Order: sequence, then C-alpha cells, then structure tokens
Amino acid sequence: MSVLVLGIETSCDETAAAVVADGRTVLSNVVASQEEIHRRFGGVVPEVASRQHLEALNLAIASALAEAGVGFADLRAVAVTHGPGLLGSLLVGLMAAKSLCLALEIPLITVNHIEAHIYAGLLVEPDVPFPFVALVVSGGHTDIVYAAGHSELRLIGQTRDDAAGEAFDKVARVLGLGYPGGPAIERLAREGNPEAVPLPRAFLEEDTFDTSFSGLKTAVVNYLYRARREGRVNLADVAASFQAAVAEVLVAKAVAAADAHGARALVLAGGVAANGYLRESLLKRARKHGLRVVIPPPVLCTDNAAMVAAAGYYRFLRGDFAPLTANAVAGLSLEESFLKQSFKE
Ligand code: KG4
Ligand code: ZN
Repeated sequence: MSVLVLGIETSCDETAAAVVADGRTVLSNVVASQEEIHRRFGGVVPEVASRQHLEALNLAIASALAEAGVGFADLRAVAVTHGPGLLGSLLVGLMAAKSLCLALEIPLITVNHIEAHIYAGLLVEPDVPFPFVALVVSGGHTDIVYAAGHSELRLIGQTRDDAAGEAFDKVARVLGLGYPGGPAIERLAREGNPEAVPLPRAFLEEDTFDTSFSGLKTAVVNYLYRARREGRVNLADVAASFQAAVAEVLVAKAVAAADAHGARALVLAGGVAANGYLRESLLKRARKHGLRVVIPPPVLCTDNAAMVAAAGYYRFLRGDFAPLTANAVAGLSLEESFLKQSFKE
C-alpha cells in the first residue's frame, strides 16, 4: 500500500497543501498565492502574510484532500516546512500540522524549505543518482548544495549579498515592472537582445561556489540612469542582458561545483528555476559536462507543498519524526536540519 503524506508549506507568501503518494506521485497540489495582496506593497509584508495563511490554510488542506480523493484517515504522516522563512508564517503551518498529527495520531515530520525545493527534483525523477549538486535559486536563497545521500545535504555555496530572485525583483522594480519581478523580466526579455547592454558578472574567487548579485543590480541602476538621461533606453534589452548575466554566473558556479565534487547530476530548484532562459542555459552547459540535469516543471519550482510532502516521505522512511514540541526556526540552516534530525520515539 502506498504511503500518503500531507505536505504543508507556509514559509513565505504561498499557502500550500498537497498530498503525495510514496514521495513521487502528486495526488493534489493546492497553492493559494497571496501575490495580489502583496503586490500593492511591492513585496511581501510579513504581518499580512501570516494573517493570510491563517485564513487560507484550512481551505487549502481540505481542497488538497478532496482533490486527491482521500480522507484524513488515509494519511500516514504530515510534513511541514519549519524553516527557513518568515517566523509568523511558518508558525501557522507548523501549528496546523501539529494539531492534525495529535488528532490523527500520526507522525509529524519537519522539513527544511531548501531541502523541500531540492526534493521537487526527486519528485519528478526519483532515480536521480547520488551524489548530485543542487542549485536552489529563490527570492531568499541562492544556495549550491551537495547531496551525498538522502540525509546528507550540505551547503557548499551561497550568495554573499542579494539572492538571485531578490535581484530579479529589485531590477524589475527599477524597470517599472512590479512584483514579483522574475516572471515580468522573463516576459520582457523575450523581446530584447541579451548582448545589448554590457553588464558585469561577479565570478568571485575561482575556488568558491559563492555568488554575488548586488554589483549587477547597481550596474543596471547606473546604466538606466545614464541611458534615460541620454534618451536611448530599451527596457527589453536591459531585461534580456540582466537575465543573461544572472544565468551565466549561476550556470558556471553550479557546473563547477558539480565537477569539483564528482557529482553525477545537477538539480535545479526554487522559484527562479521557473526561468526558461536559465533552464536552457543550464541544460546546454551541463550536458557538455556529461551531467544529468533534473529540472522540475515551474509549478514545482515555485513554493508548493508537494515538494514538502516528497521530502517528508524520505524522512518518513528513515523514521525521522519530530516531537510535537518542534519549533519554527526563521534562520534554519541545512546543517541543523540534518544534525538534530532524529527524534525516534
Ligand atoms: O521559491 P519561491 O517561490 O519563493 C521563495 O522561497 O523565495 O521564489 C520566488 C522568487 C521571486 O524572487 C521571483 O521573482 C522568482 O522566484 N521567480 C522568477 C521566475 N518566477 C519566479 N525569477 C526569474 N524568472 C522566473 N520565471
Ligand atoms: Zn522557496
């Protein structure tokens, strides 16, 4: 009989619930986005986000069960993101998960949000070989993770300033494209020339897998200022050139990390992985290096609960359950998630 896990995700501005069978078959994947609500503020307002989660979560869970055609009694565990993310938002999901586990007498599984993004890759291709390297690019993270095995995820590179998604959002704002910036830039970039505007690429030191995007963002701002003053600005060219600069650095770092660590595959994950230009660039480059590339479809790249349920399934197999006293941790690291993992009761 298959193992049904209910996933819950409320770390940022998506209220999500999903039912996944055996970590690989998505029976339902409900995402209630708060995008419209935060749009008028130009970004996510934490207070507003937690209140919205509170209002939307019960319905999201009920819809996830209904769409999957299962009842509470069919669930074997509840997996929930308990960090990193906005504390107030995380707490809403965690409390809901705890209540369900207490009432249903099933195990609670806490999952790291970055781990969950990576498991979106295993959700679509469960046979992806270890070791692999994952590039997790989202609004809050630009993480390069080395995965030696299911419980062995290690951060080997990160951004030193802005996250890739944050850079997309900030540049979109200066281009007057609104929030969230990534999809808007990608759309506009289709009409532009990626080589039109010379922009810097911060490759940093050769032996690091860290990245930096704040210099690129400043270069875009400065270029726009000059070009507008001279009355010769082509926003599509700026969008395309910016997107190409981000993708070039991300692809170079991810492939270098995979080579250096003897990885057999590369997993691309996180909201920015929805970007078609980045997906294509990574595919091209990684194939040349003989790497298998795993890129989940865009709905599994942006925040969702199916990836949480998938990550939870592998913890379920290990008997890696959390106590009902588990806490939400805004700055939760991958290391913490895998060191203190076992509360076998
Ligand atoms: O993973 P995610 O949904 O939420 C976080 O955990 O942050 O990622 C959201 C980020 C935002 O910065 C958004 O602008 C970016 O992902 N994003 C994109 C695209 N779709 C979403 N960036 C570039 N191209 C896209 N198509
Ligand atoms: Zn995310």
